[in-house]
Amino acid sequence: MWFSVGVLSSAEPPTFKRDIAPIFKAKCQKCHGFLVKQKGLSLRSLKSIRKGGESGAVIVPGKPESSILVQQLSLPTKNPKRMPPATEKLQLTAAEKKLIARWVKAGAR
Ligand code: HEC
Repeated sequence: MWFSVGVLSSAEPPTFKRDIAPIFKAKCQKCHGFLVKQKGLSLRSLKSIRKGGESGAVIVPGKPESSILVQQLSLPTKNPKRMPPATEKLQLTAAEKKLIARWVKAGAR
């Protein structure tokens, strides 16, 4: 598992505004933003993220392993639920995936 205990417990908790919003803005909002909301999901604000999408909640604060937003980042490229879709040029780096998991683990604030 890439969200190993060492990574998740490292000191400073990531914050939405400082650490996560720039990633979502660059790599997700084209499809989950103001104009387009694929699967009913907007990743523009903490409020819209907590509201979730058609599947319901996409994050469970404190539990990255139960959060579909976190799970879908690491699906095999062939899976249509993998985010961002494998056809996208802008993919997440391993460090960004870890940061998102750490943010959820720390309560997604
Ligand atoms: C090119 C467009 C596109 C981009 C970029 C994209 N998504 Fe998606 N997203 C989709 C589509 C299409 C679906 C529906 C997929 C399906 O279930 O078949 C989806 C579904 C989702 C869902 C499930 C919502 C629900 O209620 O089931 C999550 C969570 C998600 N995306 C997160 C992300 C994150 C996080 C990023 C950025 C790292 C991202 N997406 C980038 C198109 C995109």
